[in-house]
Amino acid sequence: MRPVTVSVPAKVNLQLSVGPVRDDGFHDLATVFHAVDLLDTVTAREASELRVTVEGEDASAVPTDATNLVWRAAQAMADATGADPAVHLHIMKAIPVAGGMAGGSADAAAALLACDALWGTRVAPEELHDLAAELGSDVPFALMGGTAIGRGRGDSLTPVLTRGALHWAFAIFEGGLSTPVVYERCDDMRSSDVPQPQISDPLLSALATGDAPAVGRALRNDLQPAAISLRPELADVLEVGEDYGALGQIVSGSGPTCAFLARDEEHALDIAVALTGTGLCRTVKRARGPVPGARVVR
Ligand code: C5P
Repeated sequence: MRPVTVSVPAKVNLQLSVGPVRDDGFHDLATVFHAVDLLDTVTAREASELRVTVEGEDASAVPTDATNLVWRAAQAMADATGADPAVHLHIMKAIPVAGGMAGGSADAAAALLACDALWGTRVAPEELHDLAAELGSDVPFALMGGTAIGRGRGDSLTPVLTRGALHWAFAIFEGGLSTPVVYERCDDMRSSDVPQPQISDPLLSALATGDAPAVGRALRNDLQPAAISLRPELADVLEVGEDYGALGQIVSGSGPTCAFLARDEEHALDIAVALTGTGLCRTVKRARGPVPGARVVR
């Protein structure tokens, strides 16, 4: 069996509307996911037993045991197909760890596809989606990519029509934020009367017409106040976007990564240089979206 490498994008939520907490502990969401070309790869090769290794940025922060979502993805694919999960999965990380860009979910989506291709099991797309949703709320979108509305836990997806590319700068921080902790803080900070989540029409029109300034004005994230209350310096970082004419700036998902929408590639570079100059973040990256979801590259 020849090794299989799958590349998979990070995501930013252009809107993340969080409804009341449900009986199962999750929150009903209305969100617009957007995949950007900040890519991890997962390579699957035949081995004597299931094994995970990690290379790249923040590799030391990623577990290599059965708690890694990639490990669970290989096991789930083996259980579903009857294949022997004797596979070595090597993750090359560029997506920040625990950064609010769904890096762990992306790797899990990549592992599902890589195992399917390595083992020749040809799992149907609907079954792949169900396996992905069991692994985590953001895993189905990592398979799909592009720009999509997510409902339910975020796993019920509808593609969104978009025109043109969006150019981004991302401020990445030392240390991540725990997603459950950010959701809990969000609950604590809100009144008990939380409305049902919804997506705004202006965002969808702006995406359909390729109106980047209107996309910038429509960026919203209900988790942002919670992320800022856990990491107050995020407020200062977001201000840099305002000072440098970003079309909009937002905490990505549950944070702490902050996303800045630029007018074009050159403007994204200006914002990135300004962010680096603040000394407030560990690193800065630029990316564009939308890009396709997980796919076999070799
Ligand atoms: O689905 P996933 O395992 O990625 O979710 C991580 C955590 O984020 C959940 O355990 C839950 O605390 C929170 N979450 C939520 N509502 C969602 C998605 C995630 O409360 N729709």
